[in-house]
Amino acid sequence: MLNEVKVSFNRKDLLGLENLEPTEIETILDLAESFKEINLRPIKKVPTLRGKTIINLFYEPSTRTKMSFDIAAKRLSADTFSISKATSSMVKGETLLDTVRNLDAMNPDAIVIRHSAAGAPHWLASRLDISIINAGDGMHEHPTQALLDMLTMRQHKGKLEGLTVAIIGDISHSRVARSNIWGLSKMKAKVIVCGPPTMIPKDINKMPTEVTYNVDEVIEEADVIMILRIQQERQKEVLLPSLREYSKLYGINSDRLKKAKSDVLIMHPGPINRGVEISAEVADGPYSVILEQVSNGVAIRMAILYLTVGTTARQEP
Ligand code: CP
Repeated sequence: MLNEVKVSFNRKDLLGLENLEPTEIETILDLAESFKEINLRPIKKVPTLRGKTIINLFYEPSTRTKMSFDIAAKRLSADTFSISKATSSMVKGETLLDTVRNLDAMNPDAIVIRHSAAGAPHWLASRLDISIINAGDGMHEHPTQALLDMLTMRQHKGKLEGLTVAIIGDISHSRVARSNIWGLSKMKAKVIVCGPPTMIPKDINKMPTEVTYNVDEVIEEADVIMILRIQQERQKEVLLPSLREYSKLYGINSDRLKKAKSDVLIMHPGPINRGVEISAEVADGPYSVILEQVSNGVAIRMAILYLTVGTTARQEP
């Protein structure tokens, strides 16, 4: 239960995993583990964050992250409000800082933000007293996604230390890859990124990961295979001859998985491009934990909201 979790987290914001301590990551995972049970109750609501106000401010589309932050907050009895770019005064040219200052004037306790600019949540966090939670900033970080990924791996494998995690696909454009590289390496897992040379960042040697271009080799070695979406919306230049070519060279299908470990986990942050980076057979197959990742997303976001805005409202659910 909640009071058995040793809490090592004293921050107002969650901006990324690069600057978190391993003990902080462990606290989040342990808390999420204890919150999971609430999501299985017939009445899925506890009073932990009663009276708190959370605003979801999404400048980019989202299904999983936005909805699970909303569900997480509501299950902890917080009031939640959502605002998107298309239906707000942002379309009239209001700046990010003006938008957030106006929202702040309504006295929320936290703003959960997704923005196309790397560093946007950090910039806001340094200017505002309320909690800022990064729901994805450009190609920089997506910390709650990596945390839910780590929770899923830990549940299946017992621990993160010593695991070999292959992240396959468009590494350059992936905030999910960056957050997982930081988070997993802090928890002593080995990360190997794999993709076409045009999709591996030039400064990858500054990150705690190995690199390979040989997908069939990395599949044999991995305990976990994390497959990334080809993000066509972020590619300003043509990095691939064609999607068909990508699928042939790097797509994960049943044939390729024949060489994988018998207890391998197949993960994908979603949304998936069926038939491009992952075949439908693999996405829906016996090794896939893709929908478990989504379920764990609610518990992770409950833990993050509790740790950032719940400090004055902490009580046993
Ligand atoms: N994984 C993820 O961030 O999905 P959404 O874009 O749907 O939130």
